[in-house]
Amino acid sequence: MMAVDCWTLWVSLVLGATAVFILWWRRYVGVFAHRRVPYVTPLPVVGNMLDVVFCRKSMPDILNDLYQKLDPHPYAGLFSFTIPVLLIRDPELIRAITVKDFDHFTDHMNFINAEKSNPLSQKMLVALKGKEWHDMRITLSPAFTTMKIKNMFMLITDIGQQVVAYLEKRTSDFDVSAGNENLLVLEMKDFFTRITNDVIATTAFGIKVDSLSEPDNLFYRMGRDLTAVRVIVGIGYTLFPKLMQLLGIPFMDRTATEFFKSTVIETIETREKQGIVRPDVIHLLMQARRGELRSEEAGKDGSTEGKGKRLTNDDIAAQAILFFFGGFDTVSTLMTFCSYLLATHEDVQRRLQQEVDDVMKKNRGKPDYEQVMACQYLDMVISAQRFALMETKVVLLYLVSRFSFHVVAKTPVPLQIQPNNLTLSIKGGAWVGIRRRS
Ligand code: HEM
Repeated sequence: MMAVDCWTLWVSLVLGATAVFILWWRRYVGVFAHRRVPYVTPLPVVGNMLDVVFCRKSMPDILNDLYQKLDPHPYAGLFSFTIPVLLIRDPELIRAITVKDFDHFTDHMNFINAEKSNPLSQKMLVALKGKEWHDMRITLSPAFTTMKIKNMFMLITDIGQQVVAYLEKRTSDFDVSAGNENLLVLEMKDFFTRITNDVIATTAFGIKVDSLSEPDNLFYRMGRDLTAVRVIVGIGYTLFPKLMQLLGIPFMDRTATEFFKSTVIETIETREKQGIVRPDVIHLLMQARRGELRSEEAGKDGSTEGKGKRLTNDDIAAQAILFFFGGFDTVSTLMTFCSYLLATHEDVQRRLQQEVDDVMKKNRGKPDYEQVMACQYLDMVISAQRFALMETKVVLLYLVSRFSFHVVAKTPVPLQIQPNNLTLSIKGGAWVGIRRRS
């Protein structure tokens, strides 16, 4: 009798657990199935991200594989762990969502803002939802028209020249006619990360630093601490934000956040007191707060003019810190891949240098915004977000006008993407040789 009861109990438990699992599973995949959206069958908990967990593939490679697998669907579903994500494949749909109808797609994924106890991260544009995002976006948009970005060109030109001066010094002991074994060998991600740091320092925070010549400067150290979100913390905050907060694990380094916040607030106060005007983001945001911004190209590039919201000092600091997150790793990754690919494709580098030499000669080594933007081959080598595009073009232009990139023994060829990384990076490091041009 006891044996039968025990048997019945086990069968009921197994049946119950199976029923719960089936119900949960139907809800899990039902997000897409009920809407007749094609989707890639997920695994429980890890979704379609098993390779991330086992560090077998990088996130960009996983997304690329899923993109190929979902051909020819214009859009399809996948699971980033337990979070359902709609992958948009059709370029026209992407354009509609990100440009034409961008104001209908107000909410970003909870990420930077997942740490609710950090008041500054809650004020960042990417953190805001619905109408709040819309109002902030309308307030900020006139600050980022082509005209306004163009005003920051000279600040980036200064950085381009600073980089050239640094490399001139470092390469002066190397013979320009020596073979590829006698070159200055640099890890380009580290090199370009220092440059994008300096560009953000000058354009977003109004501070001039040289992180190549002064590798340990405070601004660079704080920027590194701010943006170095460990993969495990990132995944933790995506999946279990409450638990992460309960455990007291911060998403953003508090000391670094406070450093940047006080830097911005002090800068605003000094500028207001002394009437300082500098063509940078802080100035634009201060103008936005005073309602002085007129969007020359309202509507043309997704920017609209309208009644925005009144910005506080904290709002301004939050956006400047967000630009650090937005423009630090993205642009240095772009520049790193450019230098690696130029080193491995000498014919492309030669053609680019012909164009750059020409523009430099015609403009006495200091072309203006229009002249850099008119470099067609440079435009073919890079194509990215507007500010990133200007930044990368200026830095690359100054670099290739005086130096060449070369494959050296340490350069990992063929290129493989680092698997255990959420962002795009080269396996083995982007080691490239640099030689002064004769
Ligand atoms: C190659 C360079 C870049 C790439 C590939 C890139 C990519 C992206 C993507 C995919 C998003 C949308 C994220 C989402 O929907 O959650 C985004 C948003 C954003 N990015 Fe970038 N970005 C780049 C450079 C920059 C730079 C240089 C800055 C600032 C200086 C920046 C600031 C921002 C901001 C503020 C947002 C949020 C916009 C909003 O909520 O309306 N990005 N970026």
